[in-house]
Amino acid sequence: MKKVLVLNGPNLNMLGKRPQEHYGTMTLEEINALMKQENQQRFELVFYQSNHEGDLVDRIQQCLSYDAIIINPAAYTHTSVAIRDALEMFHGIKIEVHLSKVDEREEFRRKNYIRDVCTICFSGKYEGSYIEAIKYLKNSL
Ligand code: DQA
Repeated sequence: MKKVLVLNGPNLNMLGKRPQEHYGTMTLEEINALMKQENQQRFELVFYQSNHEGDLVDRIQQCLSYDAIIINPAAYTHTSVAIRDALEMFHGIKIEVHLSKVDEREEFRRKNYIRDVCTICFSGKYEGSYIEAIKYLKNSL
């Protein structure tokens, strides 16, 4: 079975308590459950969340043999050369995901270190962005 790493960065463990106009109302556990439902056991989904940049880099390095990564690096999207460099080494499908319309928000969120090393980006649809990522993989893996 093909393996997919679902990687979430800082503060995404607090979904449900973050501003709803940007991030919706669901918790990360609820979003993960929705993804499993959409996946219909087609891929092995491996979920990981960390608030620490190095943990996210370690996890990408450990999963270089996987078939795809769905990643929401959260605030590290706008700051992390280290996560970008780790993603660059991954040769499977790389899907950048954001709950909010990240490109239409504050100026500092327009800086994006991972966009051009990823295959595609889904953003602005709350939990729907993650569901779109699963649908994309169903069509392309
Ligand atoms: C986010 C957008 C980021 O700018 C922000 O720092 C997050 C979440 C999103 O999913 O919309 O924490 O990645």
